[in-house]
Amino acid sequence: MNTLAKILMGMTLTFITISCLYEKGGPVDPTVTGIVPTTDTTNLPASLDSLPCGKTVTTNAQNQVCFNTVILPLFLANCATSGCHDSKTAAEGYDLITYQKIVKKGIVAGNSKNSKLYNVMIITGEDRMPPAPSSPMSSDKTKLIAQWIDQGAKNIVCETSTTGTTAQTVSYSKHLVPVLDYYCTGCHNSNTKSGGINLTGYANVKQMAIDGALYGSITHQIGYKPMPSTDVKLTDCQIGLFKQWIDLGMPNN
Ligand code: HEC
Repeated sequence: MNTLAKILMGMTLTFITISCLYEKGGPVDPTVTGIVPTTDTTNLPASLDSLPCGKTVTTNAQNQVCFNTVILPLFLANCATSGCHDSKTAAEGYDLITYQKIVKKGIVAGNSKNSKLYNVMIITGEDRMPPAPSSPMSSDKTKLIAQWIDQGAKNIVCETSTTGTTAQTVSYSKHLVPVLDYYCTGCHNSNTKSGGINLTGYANVKQMAIDGALYGSITHQIGYKPMPSTDVKLTDCQIGLFKQWIDLGMPNN
C-alpha cells in the first residue's frame, strides 16, 4: 500500500470513529430520559409570576416548567406566526405548533446549549429568531425555554384552573399587559397584525374588548376564533382578570 492510500484509510477510520462517538452523544429521545428536574425557580418570568394567579401557572409540583401553559404559548406567539413556522409555511422545515412537532428538530433534550431552536433565539444579527422587525424574545422567556430543554424537553401538562384568587382590583398595566405580552402580542402587534388586530397599547385592547372579540376569543366561545390557539387556553385565573377588567369598564390603570 502506498503512503497516500494509508493516509486516506487512516482518515476514513478516524471519521467513522468520530461519527460513532457523535451518535452516542447525539439527540436524546425526550420520552426515555430520566433527567433530574432543576430546583431553581428563579428563571420564571417575573411578570407572569406576580399575577394574583398562583405559581401553578408556570411549573408543576416538581418544579418542571409546564409545556402546555408556558412553553407552547411562547412557540405559538413568537415562532408559529402566519408565514413563518405555522403548519402552512413551516419555514426551513420547522412547524412549531404542537409538542410532537417542536421536539422533532432543533432540540437536544437535556442540553439547551446544543439546541438550535434555543440558540437562534439568543443570538444577535440577521439569523436571530424571530427576525426583525419583531423584537427579540426577552431573557425571562428564553430562560424558560432553556430551563424546559435542560429538564428534558418533556410534555409537562399543567392544570389550567388554579387556586389563585382574582379578588384584588385588576390593573390593566400590571395584570393584563403581562398576559397579552406573553400569549398574544407576538402575533398581534403593529408589525404583525394577525386577523388585522393589534393588541399593543391600551386603546387597541379596549377597542377589542368593547367589540366583544377579546373575551369571546380567550374563552373559546362559539363564533370567535379560539385564542391563543385551539390547543392553548389562558388559565381560569387569567381569564378572570380580563373579565373583572371589562366589568369595571376597562380602566386605564
Ligand atoms: C400564533 C399567532 C396568534 C396568537 C399567539 C394569538 N393570535 Fe389572535 N389571531 C391570530 C390570527 C391568525 C387571527 C385571525 C384568525 C382568522 O381570522 O382566521 C386572530 C384573531 C384574533 C381575534 C379576532 C377573533 C374573532 O373571532 O374575531 C382576537 C380578538 C384575537 N385574535 C385575540 C388574541 C388574544 C387575546 C391572544 C392571546 C391570548 C391571541 N389572539 C393570540 C393569531 C394569533
